[in-house]
Amino acid sequence: MEKIIVPIGFADIGERETKYVNEALKNKRLSYGPFTQKFEKLFAHAHGCKYALTSNSGTSALRVAIAALKEKYSWQDGDEVLVPAITFIATSNIVIMQNLKPVFVDVDPLTYNLDPSQLEKHLTSRTRAIIPVHLSGLPCDMEPIMQFAKKHNLRVVEDSCETMFATCDKKPVGSFGDIGCFSTYVAHILVTGVGGINTTNNEELAIMMRSLCNHGRDSIYMSIDDDDNLSGKELKTIMDARFKFVRLGYSFRITELEGALALGQFERKEQILAKRQENAKMLSEGLSDLQEFLQLPTVPKGRTHSFMFYPLVCKGGADREKLTLFLEEAGIETRHLLPLINQPIYIKLFGELEGKYPVAANLNKNAFYIGCHQHLGKKEIEHVVKTLHKFFKK
Ligand SMILES: Cc1ncc(COP(=O)(O)O)c(C=O)c1O
Repeated sequence: MEKIIVPIGFADIGERETKYVNEALKNKRLSYGPFTQKFEKLFAHAHGCKYALTSNSGTSALRVAIAALKEKYSWQDGDEVLVPAITFIATSNIVIMQNLKPVFVDVDPLTYNLDPSQLEKHLTSRTRAIIPVHLSGLPCDMEPIMQFAKKHNLRVVEDSCETMFATCDKKPVGSFGDIGCFSTYVAHILVTGVGGINTTNNEELAIMMRSLCNHGRDSIYMSIDDDDNLSGKELKTIMDARFKFVRLGYSFRITELEGALALGQFERKEQILAKRQENAKMLSEGLSDLQEFLQLPTVPKGRTHSFMFYPLVCKGGADREKLTLFLEEAGIETRHLLPLINQPIYIKLFGELEGKYPVAANLNKNAFYIGCHQHLGKKEIEHVVKTLHKFFKK
């Protein structure tokens, strides 16, 4: 009998993406060009922002976001940034790498996103920013987070690496804070292999982040098109700026090949999202009688969910390790739900923290996720439902 495989993600490269990549190759244009520019424009618009800037990873997008804010607001080394205690490690690694201090905040037990009611107790005179993380496709509860930020004059960087096109009170992720950060890494919602995107409505920050991704180059010259059709004084200004560097920057650019993939994926985003949501719905219906053992995903009122993956939390004595082994043996891939504060490197850096973060500690022990992406069909979803019933003997 054929073994049914249910991976976490799938490289869903359609005909359109292949066509665009081939066009980019035929045009012999590999640096920042028309595919990437068009994608940036559409992506910004879809997220209610004036600017979207591509880079080579979600981590790079986060890194330049924090670097730009640190420069603009003259933060000092050792200043603090509030980060949820459940997230992918890059969210807080980049804070440390900017010589800032991540201060962890416990998460909500139902959504696994930063719990706004926990912010106050971690506020100090050195707190400068909050990084709410829209986990698994679900936006954070943004209104209280933005109110808290406003009250205490904090900047907000949304880590939306796992969430695209989703809304909270009809407003898209990436448009609440000063800057939004997205990822197009394998198994994310739009996939380009590697890739990141920053969104913002602030022109100064957009210029700074573009410069930071380009070695700290003078923002007058950002693309090989910038000197096209110019002459005289105008051309000379651009020529002088081509090799002028105004800050310490990184080499975080993508090629047109990722831009072409991104545009192709973007143009069929409705189909991608609809299938993910349909799969998540089928899973929730199929698993509804297992809720004494498994906590299913919640979608709070006023929010939409783009389901990068399908999170589950063991309860009522269900053993996550036995269960995930059972699932993997049945061809169903699993991942632990983004444990952070118990990572060996974080224990080394910050000591034992789980005692202060009871919700995160419970999730570190009991939470995991499985795939619900657009390449999974009814057969795979039914296999997941049946396997979970078999494990719980129901
Ligand atoms: C919440 C979160 N932040 C940041 C990242 C980093 O994105 P990338 O892998 O594109 O660097 C990820 C990646 O999976 C993520 O899930």
